[in-house]
Amino acid sequence: MSDMAGFLGAATLWVKAAHVIFVIFWMAGMFMLPRFFVYHQESPPGSPEDARWVDRETRLRRIIITPSMIVVWVLGLTLALNADAFSQGWFHLKFAVVFALSGYHGWMVGYAKKLARGERPLPERTLRLLNEVPGIAAAVIVILAVVRPF
Ligand code: HEM
Repeated sequence: MSDMAGFLGAATLWVKAAHVIFVIFWMAGMFMLPRFFVYHQESPPGSPEDARWVDRETRLRRIIITPSMIVVWVLGLTLALNADAFSQGWFHLKFAVVFALSGYHGWMVGYAKKLARGERPLPERTLRLLNEVPGIAAAVIVILAVVRPF
């Protein structure tokens, strides 16, 4: 079976399991951070509450979100080389959506830094709408990876 082929051999399923575990960590952070932003924005810049939110966001980014994203990428690219996924249609679209999700991640990190500088660039409504992005992206990615419709 294709699951056992490639240089990873019998380790393929373990690498795949690790891939999905770190996907969960990454996505958990992606759902939490914009939620934090909504609460953070209500605190006046320079207040003690503002400082607490800056601290929470920085820790979430440095301990969970960014390391998880890096692990997901490393394991995902390893799986792609292992399974020769670069020649498959589902993978092309998955790659594009994952790339966009990584861009969203980068944008969020930038937004956290703006909040830390005392800026409040977006209204709460827009933040709440943007909060839907990782959920939609995750649904599309999982369908592509599991169902592989093309
Ligand atoms: C960051 C870049 C990523 C790359 C390069 C990548 C690549 C891959 C590849 C090649 C496989 C198939 C492994 C195989 O069957 O041998 C796979 C499986 C999977 N990926 Fe990713 N992935 C990435 C990110 C993600 C993300 C962000 C999600 C979810 C939001 C995700 C969810 C899954 C799932 C659920 C599977 C298991 C599918 C199955 O049952 O075979 N991946 N990934």
